[in-house]
Amino acid sequence: MIAAQYFQRNFTINDLGHLEIGGCDVVDLAKTYGTPLYVLDEQQIRANCRQYVDTLAQLYPDFEVVYAGKAFLTKAFCGLLYQERLGLDVVSGGELYTALQAGFPPERLYFHGNNKSREELLFALRHQVGHIMIDNLMELETLIQLAKETGTRPRVMFRLTPGVEAETHAYDQTGQDDSKFGLEIKEGTALKAVKLALQSPQLRLVGFHAHIGSQILEIAPYEATIGVLGEFLATVREKTGFLAPTLDLGGGLGIRYNKHEVPPPIREVVTRIVQKVRETLGALDYPLPRLILEPGRSIVGDAGTTLYTIGNIKEIPGIRKYVVVDGGMTDNPRVALYQAVYEAVIANKMNEQLTEEVTIAGKCCETGDMLIWDLLTAPPAPGDILAVLATGAYNYSMASNYNRLPRPAVVLVASGRADLIVARETFEQLVQNDLIPERLKISAQTIAQ
Ligand SMILES: Cc1ncc(COP(=O)(O)O)c(C=O)c1O
Repeated sequence: MIAAQYFQRNFTINDLGHLEIGGCDVVDLAKTYGTPLYVLDEQQIRANCRQYVDTLAQLYPDFEVVYAGKAFLTKAFCGLLYQERLGLDVVSGGELYTALQAGFPPERLYFHGNNKSREELLFALRHQVGHIMIDNLMELETLIQLAKETGTRPRVMFRLTPGVEAETHAYDQTGQDDSKFGLEIKEGTALKAVKLALQSPQLRLVGFHAHIGSQILEIAPYEATIGVLGEFLATVREKTGFLAPTLDLGGGLGIRYNKHEVPPPIREVVTRIVQKVRETLGALDYPLPRLILEPGRSIVGDAGTTLYTIGNIKEIPGIRKYVVVDGGMTDNPRVALYQAVYEAVIANKMNEQLTEEVTIAGKCCETGDMLIWDLLTAPPAPGDILAVLATGAYNYSMASNYNRLPRPAVVLVASGRADLIVARETFEQLVQNDLIPERLKISAQTIAQ
């Protein structure tokens, strides 16, 4: 009976010794919806949203919390974000389409991405997406051209590369000098872009954006970024007279995946960010812009749990005990991609002693398909339900069909109620886009030859 309580507030253990999330027995959820199954705790998501919104509301006059859809996005989830008064960051035609299909107000959408295609940009212009975040000079030119062609005048912001290296996995860093994202401040590219945008009658430049990385566990890199952005705002004012109405500081705050990764509370991070913004801009005598924060992981990450059914158990004497589950890198690629370390519990044995050290392996044909190394658990047996914690972000959204495994279902739980918000993929759906040219059709004839 470990970690569970401190990972999520809405975890309980019922009389059967089963884990309950949001008042739902997860063993029942596994029976009803099958496994692997993503379980999302609605109350936790709402609490995370409110920590951002309420803290900013107390401290800052004009702000918007914009959820980063890449962490997890479905149509139902858009409805939840809307209720919580968040904006939405989308990074592809697919994410944009999802939001529009859900009826999310386009003016509250922020269209990011370092290689938006012409079609995606046209799609955004046609639907009057609130903000297009320009990532590079080529995109700036393309957008000016497309705005001319369509007779539109989009509101745009520039993504800047502040040259700040956040301490996180190298694949999660995005603000360093050598990055594929954004316009460099140091080299003068960003200033050049500002001048071009201000000269263009096609664009309405409304501000600047920086996002320095993900799973960040310290506040200092945010403060450093605000310092760099402050200097940039002052330079732009001096060279062009432009005052930015909006400053978007991106997302990136980490979550607690295990006992070694301990992020500062959302409230503290937001408070320190606001302090630094006020201090930096105050010293420059710069009017306070509308402040945007763009969290993804810290909204949904700790609200997710993945349920698996334990299948085969293979013990190599003196070496290791492999416990294999019915999913793996297909539903959670973060272990293979970032060497992420997760915690898990056997959901039907919550009151049992943790007496065994095992390694949780996935069912894919890759040696790297591991979920957790050296996990201390109750004695596992085939048919047990393993609950891997803190899988709400970058799991469903990064899932694949490798080995032609169907993507799991997603269920949203709250106050003892469970709503299926994504149905499990079917085998039929797996083959629905397959096409067979005539010469490759397996007919009785070709078999006979
Ligand atoms: C532009 C931008 N904003 C926000 C985020 C959200 O980051 P996180 O989920 O770490 O909060 C990302 C993630 O990569 C991003 O690229």
